[in-house]
Amino acid sequence: MIQLKNIIKTYENKGQNIEALKELSFDFKKGEITGIIGYSGAGKSTLLRCINLLEVPSSGEVIIDGINLNKLDSKDLRETRKKIGMIFQHFNLMRSRNVAKNIAYPLKGSGLSKKEIEERVDELLDLVGLKDKKYSYPSQLSGGQKQRVGIARALANRPNLILCDEATSALDPETTVSILKLLKKINKELGVTIVLITHQMEVIKEICDSIVVMEDGFIKEEGDVIDIFSRPQAPITKRFLSSIFNTEKINNYLENIVVKPEEKIVKLAYVGSSTEEAYISKISRDYNVEASILFGNIEIIKETPIGNLIIKLGGSEGNIIDTIEYLNKNRIYTEVLKDGKKLI
Ligand SMILES: Nc1ncnc2c1ncn2[C@@H]1O[C@H](COP(=O)(O)OP(=O)(O)O)[C@@H](O)[C@H]1O
Ligand SMILES: [Mg+2]
Repeated sequence: MIQLKNIIKTYENKGQNIEALKELSFDFKKGEITGIIGYSGAGKSTLLRCINLLEVPSSGEVIIDGINLNKLDSKDLRETRKKIGMIFQHFNLMRSRNVAKNIAYPLKGSGLSKKEIEERVDELLDLVGLKDKKYSYPSQLSGGQKQRVGIARALANRPNLILCDEATSALDPETTVSILKLLKKINKELGVTIVLITHQMEVIKEICDSIVVMEDGFIKEEGDVIDIFSRPQAPITKRFLSSIFNTEKINNYLENIVVKPEEKIVKLAYVGSSTEEAYISKISRDYNVEASILFGNIEIIKETPIGNLIIKLGGSEGNIIDTIEYLNKNRIYTEVLKDGKKLI
């Protein structure tokens, strides 16, 4: 539904060119929540702002539902933008207006009567759980409540797409979870497509269907969250996932484990139903290897278990190789972390 084609964005700053986006293409799927992750300066905000042409790409096309936004005149672009809501890290509320007036602001010029606007505002307040704050001012609200107002305002014109720029980065972990739950509800119940930016893998893990990993103005990796979480390829993706899977701590722990020449330490990653099979007992029995579990963890992502298990395999070289082959065939992805033979 949203197609970005060969987008390049170069900023000019005091005679210097900054290449924020260095040519990238991507299709965002309708009805999904897509998370864009990257470190500061990666080009995430620029990319998000290119989607509604708040930032005009230096070259490339933005196509939403078959309409090429680059070709719209300013009036049509304004109309299209009304169907795209936006949510910001620092909420961007008007301090001098109460909650109801902030939410009603995008409905100016919509042709709705005063009564209809009031009804819409009440509906939105109900949706975001802020009925009792209708006449409060932003300064009287907590961060989480402010973001709920921001979300209600973004929904005022019944958009089919919402863009979130670090919507939870200014919030504490508990409030973050409650705001993410609200976004998920909006996605599920209203069918709104959501594109969100974050620098935290936890946010992606909580609600996203797809993920785009950005670095240095490029998309380094993209795909379904379950695929990327179980088999990350790009080094930057692995780095982002290391906090979730405790990679660094595991590596430190493995440093001190003695591996004999006939042993290998192997990481197994598996998704969904593989977790229910008795693979460990099967490999010991059928392949004549000793398998001992050193470490394991399971994350539930989109209601699917993703497991990482670190085991020590002992036995003849041939048997270990056959075991690894058997596991790979059964969609258990393996990586040899330490090979006793190579340590001699
Ligand atoms: N308006 C601007 N003028 C000049 N440079 C900018 C502007 N906005 C962003 N940049 C630069 O573009 C790069 C990408 O920025 P940004 O898209 O904000 O990244 P992110 O959101 O991932 O932190 C950075 O090097 C940033 O300094
Ligand atoms: Mg940013």
